[in-house]
Amino acid sequence: PRNIFMSRHGESQYNVEGKIGGDAPLSARGMKYAQVLPALVKDNIGDCEITVWTSTLQRTIQTAQNLPYQKLTWKSLDELDAGVCDGMTYEEIEDEYPDDFANRDDDKFNYRYRGGESYRDVVVRLEPVIMELERQADILIIGHQAIIRCLYAYFHSLPQQELPYINIPLHTLIKLTPKAYGCDEERYKAPI
Ligand code: F6P
Repeated sequence: PRNIFMSRHGESQYNVEGKIGGDAPLSARGMKYAQVLPALVKDNIGDCEITVWTSTLQRTIQTAQNLPYQKLTWKSLDELDAGVCDGMTYEEIEDEYPDDFANRDDDKFNYRYRGGESYRDVVVRLEPVIMELERQADILIIGHQAIIRCLYAYFHSLPQQELPYINIPLHTLIKLTPKAYGCDEERYKAPI
């Protein structure tokens, strides 16, 4: 591909409450991002025609709702499944599952939530998405924190142990341009 654009969804109600997973709608601030995103994209894609990929979760679909491009939803782009911890805060997880909490801290890439996924699992389920990305021209992915980390690490060839800690801020559009070796990057922060 020439360019890969990626962004996390706008701030969700769960982000505000510090809860992980779930299928919460956007907060008022997240909605604001959905409103300004079309201009942010238009100003930075040049004259290329893009396709927008979202997950099946409403926070990504809402974030993309005002974008005037073709859209595709991918189940494989859904956020890392936190299993029994879905909908909890990190504090609640530490209280209820202290060993799990410590194990995740020890090896965040390989730690698999009970009844859920690890980052390693997510990397595997993203393989078909990456194959398709490699075949396509310009794509904008509206995704989730863990998912964007995996895609970002793939294009920048970052090591597994760094991957789960990559800082992917909210309300920021990232543009990656693959080169023969490595990838150029630009970031555009939404004025909100
Ligand atoms: O808090 C937002 C979120 O996308 C959660 O849904 C998800 O579990 C988490 O981030 C992933 O980040 P980390 O792996 O750092 O917990």
